[in-house]
Amino acid sequence: VADRAFSTRLVLPPTLTPTDGADAYQLTIKAGTAQMKPGRATPIVGFNGIFPGPTIIATRGRPISVTQTNAWNENVTIHNHGHKVAADSDGHPIDYIAPGTSKVYSYPNDQPGGTFWYHDHTMDVTGRHVYSGLAGFYIIHDPAEDALHLPSGAYDVPLLLQDKRFAANNDAIFDEREIGAGFHGDTAVVNGVVNPFHEVATRKYRFRLLNGANARIWNLRLNVGGSGTPLPFQVIASDGGLLAAPVNTTSLAMGPGERYDIVVDFANLPLNTRVTMANTARSPGGPDIPALMQFVVARQESDPSTVPATLANITRYKEADAKARANVSLSFNNGDWRMNGRAYDPARIDMVSKLGAVTIWTLTNDSGLMHPFHKHLIEFNVLDINGQPPPPEMRGLKDTLSVPGRSTARIIFKNEGFSGTYVFHCHKLEHEDHRMMLQEGIIP
Ligand code: C2O
Ligand code: CU
Repeated sequence: VADRAFSTRLVLPPTLTPTDGADAYQLTIKAGTAQMKPGRATPIVGFNGIFPGPTIIATRGRPISVTQTNAWNENVTIHNHGHKVAADSDGHPIDYIAPGTSKVYSYPNDQPGGTFWYHDHTMDVTGRHVYSGLAGFYIIHDPAEDALHLPSGAYDVPLLLQDKRFAANNDAIFDEREIGAGFHGDTAVVNGVVNPFHEVATRKYRFRLLNGANARIWNLRLNVGGSGTPLPFQVIASDGGLLAAPVNTTSLAMGPGERYDIVVDFANLPLNTRVTMANTARSPGGPDIPALMQFVVARQESDPSTVPATLANITRYKEADAKARANVSLSFNNGDWRMNGRAYDPARIDMVSKLGAVTIWTLTNDSGLMHPFHKHLIEFNVLDINGQPPPPEMRGLKDTLSVPGRSTARIIFKNEGFSGTYVFHCHKLEHEDHRMMLQEGIIP
């Protein structure tokens, strides 16, 4: 009901504290509930039984371990999306944590600071598991970033953007048969709350946006009051960390799995102004969701934060650096979603890559739908999309790229840090679960 929207407060996931007072963390996967809407709490499966899972905050250069204990009744495996990690800590689809057992994941944090997320990655059922609640933020703080004086602390807010569908008793409904466009809900859920509001002061905020939807694309705008006047904002980071320079914009498209950090300045807005996070994307697989949440300007405050004109030195590989090339097709073959015409087989290596070789992959999407292409282990650069340079917010570090329908995109990267078997796949989770995934054998 329209007049009930934006009347529930945004919830921020708690920060996980280490069990040893240092670098060892523990999480238990178990059933629980989440107050997503007024009335009955929605049953979920979550890390420590909550949804979203607790936020893990790591520091660049300081390794941590996370012991995951499976107190649920299904196999799980946990992937830390965007993390450069050894293959046995990467959450390979069949590296199961069986019910009643635990696994220790080692996270080196040997990469620039940024917004990452840990989520279930179980063979064939990732969509249902993530939808059930197995997702949380993993943030790497970076001393180089702290020196910039971007908005921080209470002004640095992670926002997990999802869509869900609810039954009359507030159960979240999932239908894994929706494999065409992937599962789509009809209701926006931010940090586990349907259409929340968040009170802000007259100053800058950093929002860490994560599209954690199973399949929905968001094209976000910030509309002031009822007027629909767009509030400009700055994109400061993409999947793998800070951009070279902030990008000024009024809209931002995000496919599943992608992250962008934005800075929004609420200074100059009168108290009680409401700013709506609106969505103009049309999704082929479900009803349009025109709005996600609202910000309410609630108090005056001064603002010591800044957004410098130069944010970071980004590694950008050039085409001339490439020593290896490969093609990956994204297509609908014989009634199902495929990469290079194949269905994922965890026993087969589909591509052999050399550690340390600068490599170009040409991603050819000959289907009519967008596919968010995600590669494990490293962050890549987008060379071009249909022969054109990527838009400025895609010129930093990416690990997930929305490849539009009937388009070709090229990415360039260097596999670094670890050899072993790593997957790459479509991040529309129903496509991934239908084996739109392959694996790379990275050899020294
Ligand atoms: Cu976010 Cu291989 O996944
Ligand atoms: Cu896909």
